[in-house]
Amino acid sequence: GNFSELYRPQYHFSPRKNWLNDPNGLFRDVDGRFHMFYQYNPFGDLWGHMSWGHAVSSSDMLHWVEDKEVALMEEVGEMIFSGSAVIDFNNTSGFKNTSLDVPPYVLIYTGHVYGVLGTIEQNQNLAYSNDGGKTWLKYTEGNPVLEIPKEQNFRDPKVFWYAPTQKWVMAVSLSEEQKVLFYQSDNLKNWTKTGEFEIAKKDAGTVWECPDLVNLIDSQSKVEKWVLMVNVNPGGFQESSGVKYFIGNFNGQTFIQEDTSRMTDFLDYGADFYAVTSFFQPNGGANPLPLIESIAWMSNWIYTQKTDYPPPPTSPWRGQMSFPRDYALKIYKGKVFATALPNTAFALNPLLSPDKTFLLTNLPTLSLANQLLSSLIQSRPTAYSSLQRLTVVFEKAPGYSASFGVDVKIGANVRTLVRMHRNCSISVDRSKSGDTLGGNPYFMELKTAETEYDCLNEREIKIEVILDASSVEAFFFDWYSMTNLVFTESTNNGLELWTDAEFGQFSIQYARLEFLEKTM
Ligand code: FRU
Repeated sequence: GNFSELYRPQYHFSPRKNWLNDPNGLFRDVDGRFHMFYQYNPFGDLWGHMSWGHAVSSSDMLHWVEDKEVALMEEVGEMIFSGSAVIDFNNTSGFKNTSLDVPPYVLIYTGHVYGVLGTIEQNQNLAYSNDGGKTWLKYTEGNPVLEIPKEQNFRDPKVFWYAPTQKWVMAVSLSEEQKVLFYQSDNLKNWTKTGEFEIAKKDAGTVWECPDLVNLIDSQSKVEKWVLMVNVNPGGFQESSGVKYFIGNFNGQTFIQEDTSRMTDFLDYGADFYAVTSFFQPNGGANPLPLIESIAWMSNWIYTQKTDYPPPPTSPWRGQMSFPRDYALKIYKGKVFATALPNTAFALNPLLSPDKTFLLTNLPTLSLANQLLSSLIQSRPTAYSSLQRLTVVFEKAPGYSASFGVDVKIGANVRTLVRMHRNCSISVDRSKSGDTLGGNPYFMELKTAETEYDCLNEREIKIEVILDASSVEAFFFDWYSMTNLVFTESTNNGLELWTDAEFGQFSIQYARLEFLEKTM
């Protein structure tokens, strides 16, 4: 396609054609190029024939200029499920067999093996590249490298190098038992189990998928934590699929949660943020970083396939990735949280040249502010295609409570409402946002979450939205995020600020609009 179809994302990754789900094997190669693999059906726009697609970006995490489509093709009786990538700098695997000055890049993926009688087995396998990521070979003579007897749902290995023990570590889910298992290895080929993580109170009918484990540090307070992300389906935020996280420590063997009473922390409170995974960190675990880049699949299992309702109305492709997001810690009133805010180093900055940005200050009243915003959108220079990001900071009197928000993608009888309410809860309402998948109740349902932001006493209410042809990623207080698909025509591009505060009790510190260049 030419990427100009209805609802086609302009800077969020989507495949030229066919079905996509989880991001897999994210890594930055030794030449600085970003690699992203993805769960891909080469033959159709519904889930099936799962294989790994492969996209490469030479400059950032937005211009995926090379989409090579299939890197690892399914085989008869075996699909290629999710997994991760590492750079084997020391050739521990022995895969290096050329004189090329490039280390082996190794993919660790789940083989989903199914028999004619309906039997299913899931095991862990390797594939590698010796030519800098151009071609990929399955390790056919040695696969699978990890199996467990009789367990059927054992998938989505995330592997990293743990420097203190000089071992590879794998976090992998035992999906139906809602456990994350930990293994270690010297060579990526032989694995020994070292531990398990589970929670006391399990959710009936839920599976755990795509674990991710990272070591983060808050630069200011120097607080350092390990964070375990677990993708739960269903049992995510508001029953469908979503990302839970647990804060604690990793001792080289297993993950230990710090406060076992914390059961309901979600990395994102929207509907369309799943299977999040982070880029391979060359410096290994136990080297805490302030930010770690990650990407999620921007959809939800509850409506992304055809059910009683139509699936997302995109053609000839289905599925797209989130904006690149940074895992980070957020410390608020002494409590530690994990966040997934827009990536600044490689994704936002390239989009942010000052000539694409309009900063509005001293906006006197709300209705006048709306007129200014609308006229800016209408009269934007012809080199810009659409609004990419809106950041607005409301300022209110401390001790005074009020609701604030922005409405985006406004057309006749169509809008998407982004709100912080008087009780500090946040919400995104897409019930009148355009195509709601045939009125699918899961799509239309209000996304709402309580927050721990003390909005009564804080002065600033900061709301940020990232917009593309079919998505609205909302961020509150540089902390909470809500990621949602929205299907409406590109001409529905109105924008309004909103509050129920009394005049004189609030002002707008600034509103910043950033536009996308037509030539993205
Ligand atoms: C998560 C998931 C993974 C699995 C893959 C299959 O969305 O269910 O657990 O490996 O998708 O496509």
